Amino acid sequence: MSYDLVVIGTGPGGYVCAIRAAQLGLKVAVVEKRGTHGGTCLNVGCIPSKALLHASEMFEEAGHGLAKLGVKVGTPELDLPAMMAHKDATVKGNVTGIDFLFKKNKVDVHYGAGRIVAPGKVAVSPLDGSEVKVIEGKAVVIATGSDVASLPGIVIDEKKVVSSTGAIALAEVPAHLVVIGAGVIGLELGSVWGRLGAKVTVVEYLDRILPGMDLEVAKQAQRTLEKQGLAFKLGQKVTAVSADGKVTFEPAAGGASETLDASIVLVAVGRKPYTAGLGLEDIGVAVDARGRVVIDHHFKTTVAGIYAIGDVVVGPMLAHKAEEEGVALAEQLAGQAGHVNYDVIPGVVYTQPEVAAVGKTEEDLKAAGVAYKVGKFPFTANGRAKAQLKSDGFVKVLADATTDRVLGVHIIGAGAGEMIHEAAVLMEFGGSAEDLARTCHAHPTMSEAVKEAALAVDKRAIHI
Ligand code: NAI
Repeated sequence: MSYDLVVIGTGPGGYVCAIRAAQLGLKVAVVEKRGTHGGTCLNVGCIPSKALLHASEMFEEAGHGLAKLGVKVGTPELDLPAMMAHKDATVKGNVTGIDFLFKKNKVDVHYGAGRIVAPGKVAVSPLDGSEVKVIEGKAVVIATGSDVASLPGIVIDEKKVVSSTGAIALAEVPAHLVVIGAGVIGLELGSVWGRLGAKVTVVEYLDRILPGMDLEVAKQAQRTLEKQGLAFKLGQKVTAVSADGKVTFEPAAGGASETLDASIVLVAVGRKPYTAGLGLEDIGVAVDARGRVVIDHHFKTTVAGIYAIGDVVVGPMLAHKAEEEGVALAEQLAGQAGHVNYDVIPGVVYTQPEVAAVGKTEEDLKAAGVAYKVGKFPFTANGRAKAQLKSDGFVKVLADATTDRVLGVHIIGAGAGEMIHEAAVLMEFGGSAEDLARTCHAHPTMSEAVKEAALAVDKRAIHI
C-alpha cells in the first residue's frame, strides 16, 4: 500500500495532520497502536480529566455553593461509579468522533505499532498479532506523543502509586492523596479528588507552584487552592516512595526529611517524549539529550522524508500546539505555507478558578530586559463575577512600554480558559493595549475585566 503521507500516532497532532492533509488532496494513512484514536489527550488526558473536573465542580457547588444563591439541595451524595461512567462515555464519544472524521476524509487506518524500517517505509505490527505489513509513504510523520515521566526508584503501579492515567480511574476517593509535582496535572487532579473529599497534600521541588506561569498569578492560585483545602509542601525534594504509599521528602536545599502516609500517591512530575519501538536509531533520526526528535523549522527530522510534530518534539506539551503543528506540516507537504506562531500559544490550567495565559510573563520580560507596562483588574470589581459569586482572581495585561503592543495576558478567574482567546486573537494581529481597551465588550460579562485591565495599562480603568 502506498500513500502520500503516513502518520504514526493519532493523538491531536497526528489525527489533525492526517485530516488536513486529506482535505488538501493527499492520500493519507494513519498507524495507531492503542486501538482507539485521540492519543493521551482524548483517551486518558485532557478529555477524561475535564469530565471529572466538571463533575467534581458540580458536586462542590451543590455542597457549598448553591445554598448561598438561595438554592437548597440538601447534602449531595457522591456516586463515583456514575461519575466515572460519565467520564468513560465522554471519552467514547470523542474517540469515535475521530473514526468518523477519518472515514469522512478517506484516511486509511492501520491499527498496530509502527516502525520506520527505511525512509518512506513503515512496518505495522497489527494488534491481533497477525503478520507485519509494510506500508509506504512519500512522507512519514512521527506524532507519537509523550509518556509519563517518573522519578528514580519510584515504581508507578497505577494502583497505589499512580500517574494521571490511574488518577482518573480510582475506584474510591482516597483518604489522603499525596501529589508529587505542583504542575498542571498535580493541581487539576488534586482539585478533583480534593473536591470529592480527599485530603490532598502537594509536594513540589520548586519554591512555587505552576512553573512557567506568571509568578503573581501562580501565588494567587496557590492562595485560592489552599483556601479550598489543598496543602502545599514547597521546596521539597521527594527521595523515596514505598509501594505501600509512604512518601519521603527533604528540603531541596538539604535538611531533615519528612514522611507522609498516602492512601494514593500521584506522580505528576512531567512527561517525556515517546519514541520507543520506532526504530529511529536504526535509520539515523536524531534525538536530543531529552529524547525529543530533532527537527528544523519545517518539522523535518535528520532523515529526508521523515517529519515529527507534537509532544515528541521541542516546545510545550500541549494538545493545541500539536494540532497547530499538524495543520502547518500538512499544508507544507501540500505545497502551501503552513506556519505556527509559537509566541501565541495559550495555556490553561483547569482548576477552579481557571488559570490562563498567553505570551510573556513578567519574569520573561524582566529576563529579556524589555520595558513593559502592567494593567490589572480584579474580578471583585466585575458585576457579573459578583452576581455569580465568582469574584476570585484578576486579569493582568502586559504591554510594551514604548509601543503599547500586548506582550502577554494572564487571567486567574472563572472561565479564564475561554476569556484568554480574545487576547490570543489580539496578539496574533500584533494588537496594542489601546486596541483591546477601545473594543466594546458586552455588559455584564466577565470579559469586561479583560478590557478594564487593558485600560489599566494607561491607568484609566473605570471601575477601580
Ligand atoms: P509539569 O511540568 O506541569 O509539572 C511538574 C511539576 O513537578 C513541576 O512543578 C516540577 O517542578 C515538579 N517536580 C519535578 N520533579 C520533582 C520532584 N522530584 N519532587 C517534587 N516535585 C517535582 O508536569 P505535569 O503536571 O506532570 O504535566 C505533564 C505535561 O502535560 C505538561 O507538559 C503539561 O503542560 C501537560 N498537561 C497540560 C494540561 C493543560 O494544558 N491543562 C493538563 C495536563 C497536562
